[in-house]
Amino acid sequence: MVGKSVLALTALAGASTALAQLSLFGLTLSQGCETALLGAFTSSNISQCLPVSTLIPAFTSSAPLIPALDSFMSDVCYTTPCSNATLQAATATIAAGCSSSLSNVTGSSSTNNSDSLVMDVLQVYPVIREVLCLKTSNPYGTNNTADFLGPAPIPITSYNSTNGTFCVTSVLTQLSAYFGTNLTLPFIESISTHMNTTASGLYSGISSTFLCNDCIFAGVDVVERAYPSVGMTPVQEVAGVFNMSSSSTMTLNGLLNSTCAYENLATTTNGTLPANITVSIINSTFPYNLTTARTSTNSSMAKRIFGL
Ligand SMILES: *[C@@H]1O[C@H](CO)[C@@H](O)[C@H](O)[C@H]1NC(C)=O
Ligand SMILES: *[C@@H]1O[C@H](CO)[C@@H](O)[C@H](O)[C@H]1NC(C)=O
Ligand SMILES: *[C@@H]1O[C@H](CO)[C@@H](O)[C@H](O)[C@H]1NC(C)=O
Ligand SMILES: *[C@@H]1O[C@H](CO)[C@@H](O)[C@H](O)[C@H]1NC(C)=O
Ligand SMILES: *[C@@H]1O[C@H](CO)[C@@H](O)[C@H](O)[C@H]1NC(C)=O
Ligand SMILES: *[C@@H]1O[C@H](CO)[C@@H](O)[C@H](O)[C@H]1NC(C)=O
Ligand SMILES: *[C@@H]1O[C@H](CO)[C@@H](O)[C@H](O)[C@H]1NC(C)=O
Ligand SMILES: *[C@@H]1O[C@H](CO)[C@@H](O)[C@H](O)[C@H]1NC(C)=O
Ligand SMILES: *[C@@H]1O[C@H](CO)[C@@H](O)[C@H](O)[C@H]1NC(C)=O
Ligand SMILES: *[C@@H]1O[C@H](CO)[C@@H](O)[C@H](O)[C@H]1NC(C)=O
Ligand SMILES: *[C@@H]1O[C@H](CO)[C@@H](O)[C@H](O)[C@H]1NC(C)=O
Ligand SMILES: *[C@@H]1O[C@H](CO)[C@@H](O)[C@H](O)[C@H]1NC(C)=O
Repeated sequence: MVGKSVLALTALAGASTALAQLSLFGLTLSQGCETALLGAFTSSNISQCLPVSTLIPAFTSSAPLIPALDSFMSDVCYTTPCSNATLQAATATIAAGCSSSLSNVTGSSSTNNSDSLVMDVLQVYPVIREVLCLKTSNPYGTNNTADFLGPAPIPITSYNSTNGTFCVTSVLTQLSAYFGTNLTLPFIESISTHMNTTASGLYSGISSTFLCNDCIFAGVDVVERAYPSVGMTPVQEVAGVFNMSSSSTMTLNGLLNSTCAYENLATTTNGTLPANITVSIINSTFPYNLTTARTSTNSSMAKRIFGL
């Protein structure tokens, strides 16, 4: 169920980024599917609550991605959320046009996939919106003492800072500082294709303590409030993602807790977010209350993430 939701979401997120770049996800889209995606995302109802057009320029060129994402989140978080009817119509359009492409992803060719896909999108959308709208009062790039990787090419101060900085923006800005370059789609492709050996080397040097970031834990906490079973997933199933030995018997929560115990970070399932993290959102449809912990994590350590 969760796995399928994630796939549904990946399909949606993939669609929302750029049709031309979907080969990154190993997908080949039929003409009918591309038409359906374009139609769904440019329909006036969906484009008002999910203004993907903000993202398209960056995801189809070599422009930096973070400013586009920050602006996308500023739109998504502070405008009226998508209604179920809007999401349902868009998903049905995509499901109809993309049935063959989607069955390649989900490994199922069942034709009643469409109904369950719609249901998955309706349930997952509020979770994703909530995660995208997480903000931190202590983003990367504001504290010379803690931000030892040095400044990123684009300063954090150029982004939306009302009631904090988006967590996605903060984490990606830290990555940008680590790689010492703007994050662009061609740059990311050059890592995955090993065309830039300097960048590939830096990428392999990222240690699992990368996860020990209060923004990342906040994202996990939101997901686990809605889907507590996610934390019980054996890391073996996602080992590739974390570059871990596939013989590990740990669960995701076990991995996160033990890797990040040195900074007092531990996952929650009761909606308690790490200190300094809030959700900055208008008219949330996330069906659970979230609160911010009062005890502070060591925020300087929470940033000390790479290869150490
Ligand atoms: C868009 O939303 C309006 C108002 O909710 C609705 O009347 C209309 O049918 C929707 N259009 C589409 C194409 O879904
Ligand atoms: C949020 O919800 C309230 C109450 O339903 C409504 O009055 C307000 O217009 C909504 N704001 C946005 C931006 O949709
Ligand atoms: C939207 O659909 C989901 C899944 O069926 C449901 O849980 C949620 O309550 C619906 N939201 C609204 C506002 O009707
Ligand atoms: C982080 O949270 C702690 C505890 O709430 C607070 O004392 C501290 O000032 C916060 N740090 C920042 C940078 O806001
Ligand atoms: C900056 O980082 C230092 C430790 O490196 C920490 O003690 C201090 O609270 C941080 N200041 C802010 C405003 O976050
Ligand atoms: C920044 O976020 C606020 C809400 O916190 C929003 O009202 C504002 O429009 C955003 N600013 C920009 C430049 O997007
Ligand atoms: C910022 O935070 C304050 C205090 O929590 C709140 O009243 C205000 O609505 C928030 N602004 C936005 C745009 O979310
Ligand atoms: C290759 O990667 C390095 C390290 O991240 C980066 O500084 C450099 O700009 C990259 N080269 C190209 C052509 O993207
Ligand atoms: C990063 O992007 C910004 C904004 O497009 C640009 O001004 C800057 O020169 C770029 N920096 C590098 C190192 O490419
Ligand atoms: C992770 O830490 C939290 C908070 O201490 C605890 O509730 C949970 O049981 C831990 N989970 C694992 C698998 O260690
Ligand atoms: C939520 O769970 C955490 C541990 O996982 C615990 O420390 C905290 O007290 C709980 N908060 C509430 C309000 O129950
Ligand atoms: C969230 O908190 C409000 C006020 O504390 C409460 O009325 C409401 O029932 C809570 N909702 C959930 C889903 O726990």
